[in-house]
Amino acid sequence: MFPDLTLHADYLRGQTKEWCSQLAAQTGKYEFTWKYYHEGTASEDILTEELSKLLHGKVLDVGCGHGEYTNRWADAAEEVVGYDMTEGFIATANRYRKPNVRFVTGRTHDGLPFPDHYFDVAYTKKGPSSWYREGNRIVRPGGDILLYHPGDGDGEEGELGLCFPGLFPPPARGTPILDKIEERLELSGLSDIRLRKLKEIIWIPTPEDILIMLSFGQSERFAQYVRETCFNGVNTLFERHAAGKGIKVTNFFYLIHAKATG
Ligand SMILES: C[S@@+](CC[C@H](N)C(=O)[O-])C[C@H]1O[C@@H](n2cnc3c(N)ncnc32)[C@H](O)[C@@H]1O
Repeated sequence: MFPDLTLHADYLRGQTKEWCSQLAAQTGKYEFTWKYYHEGTASEDILTEELSKLLHGKVLDVGCGHGEYTNRWADAAEEVVGYDMTEGFIATANRYRKPNVRFVTGRTHDGLPFPDHYFDVAYTKKGPSSWYREGNRIVRPGGDILLYHPGDGDGEEGELGLCFPGLFPPPARGTPILDKIEERLELSGLSDIRLRKLKEIIWIPTPEDILIMLSFGQSERFAQYVRETCFNGVNTLFERHAAGKGIKVTNFFYLIHAKATG
């Protein structure tokens, strides 16, 4: 029913450096452009609640995107630093930054450009997992590290793949994300590691939102191609599967709290 969109000449894999740069050039922000509604508590609110409890002193946000979330901690901390590899996001962040907030461009693979034990708290909200070991170096011994990453499913998720086969991946098998996180935590030197799996439900209200989702961060030409080749199919399948407030989607996240040992 649908072409393989990944074969389109303009297709970029989501979350790569190239894809992030293109998204930044389009909107300047890492922010979803489709509509969705949460049912119950959003997982992100649980992260925010946890951070509110422990955040103080000098704070680092790794993979901060356009810095909107980083800025929100300005009143609670002495200094907040946002760090991200995408120059276009950092440019937006710098336009709106609060006085005790600063932003640094860089890629975790090159190491974090901060002195030993500089921060009291470091966190990531959906950013990379390649900095845990560096996190242990730049956060003072006993300081807190909070990690929030999209998670593996448990068979309940994957509704988009089931409703729109060929357009979205089927439910994943195993726990590839957790395996990678655990491997990196093991090498990090962090201690007192506590991991929670969070589940949230969202509703996608219209077929238009599905089309927007498919083209997120892709070129204008790609978005046009999606519209031309998928519009009718997406409408038909949406009608077939929608219930309540649209298409129900289950998302999972990992929320990890650990202590730095220095
Ligand atoms: C999914 S977005 C999350 C952005 C923001 N934290 C939020 O929650 O909206 C991931 C962010 O991490 C950044 N990023 C990904 N890999 C990175 C790396 N290795 N080093 C630095 N930044 C990275 C991307 O540029 C992007 O802004």
